[in-house]
Amino acid sequence: MAHAKESWGTRIGLILAVAGNAIGLGNFLRFPVQAAQNGGGAFMIPYFIAFLLLGIPLMWVEWAIGRHGGKHGHNSTPGMFAVMWENKAAKYLGAIGLFISTVIFIYYTYIESWTLGYSVFSSVKLYFDETTFDSMKQFLMSYQGAGAGVHFSGLTTAYIFMTITLLINFWILYRGLSKGIELLAKIAMPLLFLFATVLVVRVFTLGTPDPMHPDWSVWSGMAFIWNPDFSQLSNAKVWLAAAGQIFFTLSVGMGTIQAYASYLKEDDDIALSGLTTASTNEFAEVILGGSIAIPVAVAFFGLTQTQTIAQGGAFNLGFVSMPIIFTKIPFGQFFGTLWFLLLFFAGITSSVAMAQPVISFVRDEFKLTHAKATVLLGVLAFICIQPVVFFLSHGFLDEMDYWAGTFGLAVFALIETILFAWVFGMEKGWTEITKGADIKVPAIFKFIIKYITPLYLAVILAVWSYQDAFNIFLLKNKAAEDIPYIWASRGLMFLIAAALVMMIAKAWKKRRQLP
Ligand code: PHE
Repeated sequence: MAHAKESWGTRIGLILAVAGNAIGLGNFLRFPVQAAQNGGGAFMIPYFIAFLLLGIPLMWVEWAIGRHGGKHGHNSTPGMFAVMWENKAAKYLGAIGLFISTVIFIYYTYIESWTLGYSVFSSVKLYFDETTFDSMKQFLMSYQGAGAGVHFSGLTTAYIFMTITLLINFWILYRGLSKGIELLAKIAMPLLFLFATVLVVRVFTLGTPDPMHPDWSVWSGMAFIWNPDFSQLSNAKVWLAAAGQIFFTLSVGMGTIQAYASYLKEDDDIALSGLTTASTNEFAEVILGGSIAIPVAVAFFGLTQTQTIAQGGAFNLGFVSMPIIFTKIPFGQFFGTLWFLLLFFAGITSSVAMAQPVISFVRDEFKLTHAKATVLLGVLAFICIQPVVFFLSHGFLDEMDYWAGTFGLAVFALIETILFAWVFGMEKGWTEITKGADIKVPAIFKFIIKYITPLYLAVILAVWSYQDAFNIFLLKNKAAEDIPYIWASRGLMFLIAAALVMMIAKAWKKRRQLP
């Protein structure tokens, strides 16, 4: 290996880094919206079932695949799969893991850059004159380049924050694993918990902020998220949404957990670490994420309008309804800055995780220095992000989010579970999971990983394909003027996939020629 093998500095650093990987925008924006859209409290039933039968098992499987691959010198999934299955196809299956994390990185960092922008806007009260939904939405759209320069003249501001965000990301990645990612996690994660706690306390002490509407309260907001609408349980969509949220929030099915775990030593514990990070993520999601945006929206806008907001999606909630509230409360400037910094820290500890696999891959397989690999990929990411910025309103980002960030996760998770439990073999797999373990992993998980998880995944994929993947692929319900942009988005994804496949082919050829 051309470079000294990197490793994590401390165990707490590793745990914070993986928790940072998992805790992201998904916890504070995606989760509340999913819960509100899918039956409130009833959503929590399929959600927890998915956590137990998909989330936890996949977490352990991915830590095990990662540590095992790392032992053989691989820090990304193509090499990891190749050591688990001696077949030419294995490395190409592993390419899916690289593909997914890379594609998500490209659009996720753009959204992350809005949070940085909005934290600055909050601190200088830039949007504080916008008091209605329409005008705040206009503000957001103008920032994103639509709506004829009412607040921003074109995309310049958004572009600057995007560039800064990418630079910070690659600067951290450039500093390497323990001096970059781990140090970031050690600083950002405690701050994230602090900010979230301050905001939760603020929300809970708001009571009924609007004297005109004494029935609008934080408590009716909590009731809205948590009152189970059991009739929703017979709706397949709710089960799919719950599983999708579990994947996204835990960062499983993406290739990033494996990459982080590959820097462990052979007999380092993974059972307890995997469980700890998964539980930390759930705390941040269900307890903290569930107690901020939705309850406060109900307190200020009432139930009916909050429902409309939630239907409008995560950006509406985070970048429109929250800012309006900040204009209304005392010290709104302060709380607004805190909210967007919270999102920024949540985002950046996730985005560096998404870039790590592809950097390791290029560095390891082509024997580049870490610095060269990071700079090269930074430049490529900057190029790929351009259409995401410029074609945002034409569904360019949504297309990537669907194929890589939703459907792709289940595909990859199914492949890796079968590979792990059936090809590598469950006996060997179980030995991997329990080696060095600091807890006793309940034996039932051996059964779950072998049978239940893959079956669950296969059913999800089948229903998903039938219910929407085909229609989305065939561009049903798309506006005619967006279609060229959607094809462009697919074209970009195709290019990324093709480049990865070619690099893998080349790397393995080179390896065979070595003595
Ligand atoms: N889990 C992160 C979130 O909740 C998202 C993420 C996706 C992180 C892919 C890493 C890799 O926002």
